[in-house]
Amino acid sequence: MIKEKKPPINKKNSIDFQSYPSLSLELQKQIAAAVRQLQAGETVAFPTETVYGLGADISIPSAIRQIYKIKGRPTNHPLIVHFAHISQLQHWAKEIPKSAWKLATHFWPGPLTLILKRSQHVPQNVTGGQNTVGLRIPGHPIALALLNALGAETALAAPSANRFGRISPTTAAHVQDELGDRVHMVLDGGACQVGLESTIVSFHDEAAIVLRPGGIPLSALETVLNDKITLSNDRKSTVRTPGSLASHYAPATPLEICPTQTLWQRTHELEAQNLCAAVITWSASISVRISNKNIVQFSMPQEPTAYGSQLYATLRRFDQKGFDRLLIEAPPDNPAWLAITDRLQRASQTKSQ
Ligand code: TXA
Ligand code: MG
Repeated sequence: MIKEKKPPINKKNSIDFQSYPSLSLELQKQIAAAVRQLQAGETVAFPTETVYGLGADISIPSAIRQIYKIKGRPTNHPLIVHFAHISQLQHWAKEIPKSAWKLATHFWPGPLTLILKRSQHVPQNVTGGQNTVGLRIPGHPIALALLNALGAETALAAPSANRFGRISPTTAAHVQDELGDRVHMVLDGGACQVGLESTIVSFHDEAAIVLRPGGIPLSALETVLNDKITLSNDRKSTVRTPGSLASHYAPATPLEICPTQTLWQRTHELEAQNLCAAVITWSASISVRISNKNIVQFSMPQEPTAYGSQLYATLRRFDQKGFDRLLIEAPPDNPAWLAITDRLQRASQTKSQ
């Protein structure tokens, strides 16, 4: 545990915001207030380019306990540690493979989490007792300003700011919906650009293994490493990765994935059962002939990056409208859609239908 911390902000609480010209004066004030909250051991929700995180200083055990309590997450599920600059990587990790350095140099700040051997500076209560740690430099000016202000020897544990097993928030309003008064402060950075969680990569010697597909496509990782990358399908792994549980990222409304060819047949079956359904499509060729006001169609973008950025907000919106079913057109069978397919499959596995 880190006992001593260099004061990262001066007595007037002024922070060097010059590197973040996009931050308004109001946001700068809020970030300064968030720094004080975090240093006092409180939790603060903040935007990243992927999803909103629920942050706490990793060196304050009571703050880490708060994260688990607020989320309702079992304490053996490890948290991702966020920090500001690649020069700090060796402070938090040791025995770093060359391939990890390559990925870090290329993709950070960005939607990539590396699982590495933890250094003695990372407390075990953050890693669920494991000897590895998930590390990430987020690509969002608010997150980076916050992390920089906290100082080089401090990092923030930040799981997605939702209750355990639920859809990750991609706006500040979603965080409020999820956590309400339980979170001390929410920094509002608008909608997250990527909208899906980071790609998580672990290493077997130099070989990279993707534990969770996410914001960075496998093909981009392969290009940088000039090597094939394995996608882990090991659901029985002893490593506790909530994102790898079958029933995760789930709306409360039963969600069903249906191939394009049978989508309208399935819609009519639901209609015949007098069920209310939201039919969420991506292919432009499809348009529903709505004969029943219980059925609503919503068209998503055809391009996976745009689809991914809207997915959680769309599921959340339709989840709140009291439908009996969310009927989702199966995404294309194409590696660029991997993270989307992964999240939809997990979301479809919670409820008996
Ligand atoms: O995009 C993201 O990654 C977001 C933003 C806030 O950074 N964070 C996020 O955190 O999704 P969370 O806690 O919801 O998911 C983190 C995943 C979990 O599945 C966790 O088990 C896995 O990362 N993880 C963390 N540390 C790990 C470790 N040492 N070994 C294996 N998996 C780990
Ligand atoms: Mg999560």
